[in-house]
Amino acid sequence: MRAVLIAVLLVVVGFVILAVGYAAEQASLRAEAQKARTISQAFATTLKGQLVAAIKADGHTSAIAVCQQIAPQISAQYSADGLHIGRTALKLRNPANAPDEWERGVLESFQAALDKGTDIKTLERYAFFGDEAGGKTFRYMKAIPVGQPCLACHGANIASDVRAVLAARYPGDKAVDFALGDLRGAFSVQKAMQANP
Ligand code: HEC
Repeated sequence: MRAVLIAVLLVVVGFVILAVGYAAEQASLRAEAQKARTISQAFATTLKGQLVAAIKADGHTSAIAVCQQIAPQISAQYSADGLHIGRTALKLRNPANAPDEWERGVLESFQAALDKGTDIKTLERYAFFGDEAGGKTFRYMKAIPVGQPCLACHGANIASDVRAVLAARYPGDKAVDFALGDLRGAFSVQKAMQANP
């Protein structure tokens, strides 16, 4: 009888430990997601601001260079403490921004959700990924919608001078013919977490 009681107690304690561990993991995941959300928002606002300012100052053909150089700069500015933020998409302008396997799957699921009528502003995904060495990586993606200022360089009616510069710089450019509200791509955040001891 006593042995049974002890066994039951051990099982209960085991479950409690698991549940506490799970709750802590979920809380840490939500905290990382909140940080990644804030950084993605800041990245989007900064890039859009600089892009619109450059277009206003020098026109779209000059702004192409801004987009090319400023995006990586902003990306570097917000990447710190083991965190990296970048942009990726299914239809690419610069092949260097190609998605990896996980990113491709998430982008495809964003597109499918959008096709079913989900609000693009709500499309995000995050998770922890473990590696064999016991380390953990946090990953986060947030959908980027096509807004009005994007159409001049990613839309269906791109001015011929802009088109010419794009064609010269990005020979295999697939990031055209987008409409307002389409899924342009996503911000992608990766952060190496402290390895579990
Ligand atoms: C002045 C032209 C221009 C405008 C306006 C513009 N882009 Fe781009 N976009 C580019 C260029 C050039 C690249 C390639 C940058 C590079 O070389 O990494 C690019 C790349 C991207 C990428 C990275 C994926 C890829 O295809 O390489 C995303 C995402 C993106 N743009 C979204 C947007 C959004 C959203 C807007 C509107 C807020 C926008 N762009 C407005 C020119 C523009």
